[in-house]
Parts: sequence; structure tokens; C-alpha cells
Amino acid sequence: MSVEINWDALRAAANDAMAKAYVPYSKFKVGAAALTEDGRIVSGCNVENASYGLTLCAECALVGQLFMTGGGRLVAFTCVDGHGNILMPCGRCRQLLFEHSTTGMILETVSGFKTIDEVIPDAFGPRDLEERK
Ligand code: THU
Repeated sequence: MSVEINWDALRAAANDAMAKAYVPYSKFKVGAAALTEDGRIVSGCNVENASYGLTLCAECALVGQLFMTGGGRLVAFTCVDGHGNILMPCGRCRQLLFEHSTTGMILETVSGFKTIDEVIPDAFGPRDLEERK
């Protein structure tokens, strides 16, 4: 049995998260939201730091919330900027999402809906560690 993806609800959660962003340096708000296999919506906003490089992307907060609310894997993801427009997750965050994705996880992107494998092809992941011990 697979969970139904409500993209409107996911986008709304991403926008709610975006409104909470802490961005005194870039002034660039980001909100991310994802649906888990068991039907929860988890979300996060970006949290910047005076030491610029330590900035936490919205996806970092989302992954924290994933574990704080029971863990599991992600089936769908969306991300918005401060105007509510769809934003592509940065390279590092694609890796973060890959780690917790279901096979075939769908992302809403600037060029339409894509699978996790399309946005991070041939990804390095947990299985590589097992196979090369
Ligand atoms: N940002 C995210 O939160 N997620 C991304 O995937 C792209 C970039 C944030 C980090 C920083 O606070 C701001 O956007 C500008 O780079």
C-alpha cells in the first residue's frame, strides 16, 4: 500500500516552514517539506550563522524533524524560496535527501517532477559502504 501524495499540502507546509527561516545574512528564506512513507509531513527552514559556512539549509532541519517524529523514509519532497517559488535543493542537500529516500522518491523541481535518482545520479549511499567493506 503506497501513501497518496498531496502536493498542495506539501507546498503549504514548505511555505509555513519558510516563514520561520532565520536569514539575517543572506535574507534568502527557504522552506522544505517532505512526505514520509507512513503519511507524516516533515518540514524545515534554513537557519544561518554568523560564521556563514555553518548555515543549516532547510533540508537539514527537515531531516532533524524526520528523526524527531519517528524516522522512516521520504517519498515526496518540495522546497520553496521566500516568494513561494519552487527551489532546487543544493547538491549537499540532494545527498542528505538520498540517504533517507525511498526508491523512486519524487521531488518537485524547477523542471518538473523528478525522481531522486534523476537529481543525484549514481549517488554514493549507505549500500556502497556495505558492498566495499
Ligand atoms: N539554502 C537552503 O536552505 N537549501 C538549499 O537547498 C539551497 C540553499 C539556503 C542556505 C542559505 O541560508 C540560503 O539558502 C542562501 O544560500
